[in-house]
Amino acid sequence: MKNTTYKVKKSDDLLKQAKEVIPGGIFGHYKYAVRDTGPKFFSRSEGAYFWDIDDNKYIDLMCAYGPSILGYKHPEVEEAANSQDSEGNTVSLASPVMVDLASSLVDLVDAADWALFGKNGGDSTSLAVMVARQATGKEKIIKIKDGYHGVAPWMQGKDRPGVIASDDTHVITINWNDLASLENILIEKSSEIACFISSPYDHPTSRDNVLPEEGYWQGVSNLCKKYNVIVIIDDVRAGFRINLSGSNVAYGFTPDLICFGKAIANGHPLSALVGTNAMKDAAEEVYFTGTQFFSASPMAAAIATLKELKKIDAANRMTDFGERLNKSLVLVAKENGYDLVASGVPAMPYYRLDNVDTRTHFKWIDECVRRGVYMLGYHNHFISTCHSDEDLEAICNIARQSFEALKENTL
Ligand SMILES: Cc1ncc(COP(=O)(O)O)c(C=O)c1O
Repeated sequence: MKNTTYKVKKSDDLLKQAKEVIPGGIFGHYKYAVRDTGPKFFSRSEGAYFWDIDDNKYIDLMCAYGPSILGYKHPEVEEAANSQDSEGNTVSLASPVMVDLASSLVDLVDAADWALFGKNGGDSTSLAVMVARQATGKEKIIKIKDGYHGVAPWMQGKDRPGVIASDDTHVITINWNDLASLENILIEKSSEIACFISSPYDHPTSRDNVLPEEGYWQGVSNLCKKYNVIVIIDDVRAGFRINLSGSNVAYGFTPDLICFGKAIANGHPLSALVGTNAMKDAAEEVYFTGTQFFSASPMAAAIATLKELKKIDAANRMTDFGERLNKSLVLVAKENGYDLVASGVPAMPYYRLDNVDTRTHFKWIDECVRRGVYMLGYHNHFISTCHSDEDLEAICNIARQSFEALKENTL
């Protein structure tokens, strides 16, 4: 493999043009990822790869921040979406595929007795909080420090632009894996607390990801049950990459509500809130809707996605690939005199170069991107079922070349 680096001139030119007509040019989480030497716009995608508008090919370790779980343009998923599209997508009535999809989720997800649908993960987390408030008659939300649940003002934190202090009046933040704090708050304020919302493990940006300690989730469940607090699992990011029946199954507990998004329809716009029978009345009472929420094609795509995930035992397959990738990358780093730390679950690895400054870590990531592996320095990565052994070898070769470039630049 040639050790050459990519040019991204067309991307840079288009970003300049974009800034004239779009605030910031690229916005939101895609804006955070913009790096001087990196790609900014894609031209096409297939399987585990995308090409930027300068026609550079990348092995994609971000998978669109999660949605591409079976790989881009998966034939069965696209066929299901296109076939539904040819019959009708957004129409004045709901489609039978909505009922089929709800049934698929009830069959697949252990804690699901029903499902409601939105578009983005934030639709399902906001709805989950409303359902919890309706079910308990209480108002406050306990969340984990730096836990991300979307962009609604209550989720962002009061210091963010455009958010006012009263937006998070009812949000109480505690540290991950801290059962004692949870218990203390519940003892003090349980009459006000509607829900505890958390991802199944701690996957914040810009620091190592942390798994639940032994007994943590059982402790959370028991406390919440005791104080009539609804347990909401935000499985928007990790959903279907740890366990197809819900990530909670891997950690041995049953929540009241689970939020899904991202991977549920392999990139077609869809999210879901599922819940237990005890939550069903409250879910019916809460007013939840959106112009596009009934679009049938993404629902058909989701049915095909869930079927395929099950058929190929996807979560175990991605876990196996992630374990092998982590082991190989740690070894490549060691051979080059660096300590690479891989944290989180194997299908969503967060990488950090230890014992060097953050600049060096980011430089290594940039060097990988410039040679064709799309990675981020401050975010967990995502494995898809499309990543092959050949990709693993190519990733390791590029990682090796990038370490060598790093050493040359820092000598
Ligand atoms: C854990 C988690 N919850 C909620 C969301 C919000 O999802 P969306 O961006 O689709 O609204 C995200 C998005 O990254 C997420 O990672």
